[in-house]
Amino acid sequence: MSKADILMTAPMMPVVMDALDKAFNLHKLWEQTDRESFLREIGPRIRGVATSTLFGRMDASLFEPLPNLEIVSSFGVGYDNVDVTEAAKRQVIVTNTPDVLNDEVADLTLGLLLATLRKIPQADRYLRAGQWLKASFPLSSTLRERKVGIVGLGRIGKAIARRLEGFDVSIAYHGRTRQEGVSYTYHPTLIGMAEACDVLIVITPGGAGTKHLINADVLKALGPTGVLINVARGSVVDEQALIEALKSGTILTAGLDVYDDEPRVPQELIDIEHVVLLPHIASGSVHTRNAMGQLVADNLISWFAGKGPLTPVSETPYTKA
Ligand code: NAP
Ligand code: 8YV
Repeated sequence: MSKADILMTAPMMPVVMDALDKAFNLHKLWEQTDRESFLREIGPRIRGVATSTLFGRMDASLFEPLPNLEIVSSFGVGYDNVDVTEAAKRQVIVTNTPDVLNDEVADLTLGLLLATLRKIPQADRYLRAGQWLKASFPLSSTLRERKVGIVGLGRIGKAIARRLEGFDVSIAYHGRTRQEGVSYTYHPTLIGMAEACDVLIVITPGGAGTKHLINADVLKALGPTGVLINVARGSVVDEQALIEALKSGTILTAGLDVYDDEPRVPQELIDIEHVVLLPHIASGSVHTRNAMGQLVADNLISWFAGKGPLTPVSETPYTKA
């Protein structure tokens, strides 16, 4: 049986490249000097795409030259990089990489929360600069007696909440729907949760539905002892409103893993000493990125073996037989 033609939009980890090279005719878009004529010639043969949240948007302009595309396998649980409406219109399956990264992202979120409250990066910088020889590091804020609100209690949100249980803090959540069998306090409005809590952890999907969910009003409701942790997508937070809230003391501090225009981070944020800024690393261990990469390959392999996609996104046109 002839191998299916797969297009990879940018270089991926060896675990993906090797698996796809073995199972398919793999075409590497980034190696093409004349992308347009390459797509004109090879495009009609392409039946699958491997892409990533790192590589820019998979939208109509890339669907157009691929008339026989059946499946887009995307690296990352968030898939705001793929135009799923366009894909569904064209009967194209979209898959993502859920679950295999829940624990890694939740671990990092707790690390970021503690680093932000206890100023761990600042304390490290203080020691290295020889400041400890002159004076003790100033006392920090605390996680003790805090009320934590999780914005988006999904797969990762729940893994974060489980970890928080071990820290003896009160846990609440906000989402569009109250969840059956969940004992944490539900807040039907985000403003209501921000008023009731002094930490917000944001872990929703990105995209139009959540754009600027965290705005100036929410930050005001969070208040002057409030801490914002964003491990979702930069688009979920109004970055300019956040910068103003941090500068004016409207909230206490923030820990961020994601930004509006990655990898560019506003200089105004970088200049604020009391925030902790990470370069989108929540899932970034070798172990977890390999598991995500394997799932990208396995989705394509399963589909072309006639066994259906392993992890189709909810908007995808596939129904299991
Ligand atoms: P998930 O299981 O689908 O959970 C998403 C949660 O967000 C759901 O509980 C959903 O609840 C809630 N939600 C969706 N739209 C909302 C809205 N408009 N307002 C309030 N809540 C809303 O997804 P997951 O696997 O936990 O992943 C969540 C997201 O984390 C990903 O999509 C990605 O953007 C981000 N992420 C970031 C990193 C990183 O490296 N920083 C790593 C992994 C994931 P309702 O449906 O009840 O509203
Ligand atoms: C990755 C992520 O950093 O899964 C997601 O949605 O944001 C992260 O796990 C990203 O996918 C890297 O491409």
